[in-house]
Amino acid sequence: MTLTAPRRIHRLERLTYFSRNLMPGPRWRVAEQLRALLDGARIRNAHLGITGALMLHDGCFAQVLEGDREELSSLFASISADPRHCNVTLLQRGPITERAFMDFGMRHIETDETMPPPGVIAVENLFLRLATEAHGGG
Ligand SMILES: Cc1cc2nc3c(=O)[nH]c(=O)nc-3n(C[C@H](O)[C@H](O)[C@H](O)COP(=O)(O)O)c2cc1C
Repeated sequence: MTLTAPRRIHRLERLTYFSRNLMPGPRWRVAEQLRALLDGARIRNAHLGITGALMLHDGCFAQVLEGDREELSSLFASISADPRHCNVTLLQRGPITERAFMDFGMRHIETDETMPPPGVIAVENLFLRLATEAHGGG
């Protein structure tokens, strides 16, 4: 028996963008602000039926968002207007048949120094990297 009815998704879409971080301070301070951002995002995303992944690397964010088309549009409008980043650039958006980040309200992808920044990674590679790392791959 399920306690809550699964949220009705009419048109499932996936959206990928990158942006430039504006959260100030040294790395530990940025990490602290990122944790706060993710805490809020996870609560709202669970409520909205949004899943996805976020990474912050070399001053740039890359994020994949999946969910109902209307919910994605309004969330992406809020995200685009968020003063914690700028130069929000939509890389790809389109319908999907299933989620790649089913288990994640918003998965935080850890990065390392050797990775090129999101802006110079082609969108397919970026998505593959986020999806692979979300599923515990290398
Ligand atoms: C890089 C980045 C990613 C974000 N991702 C999400 C997210 O996945 N879900 C979410 O609800 N808010 C996310 N936010 C926060 C939203 O921009 C916004 O603060 C939040 O949705 C509240 O919006 P509102 O003040 O218009 O209600 C993100 C913000 C930034 C800067």
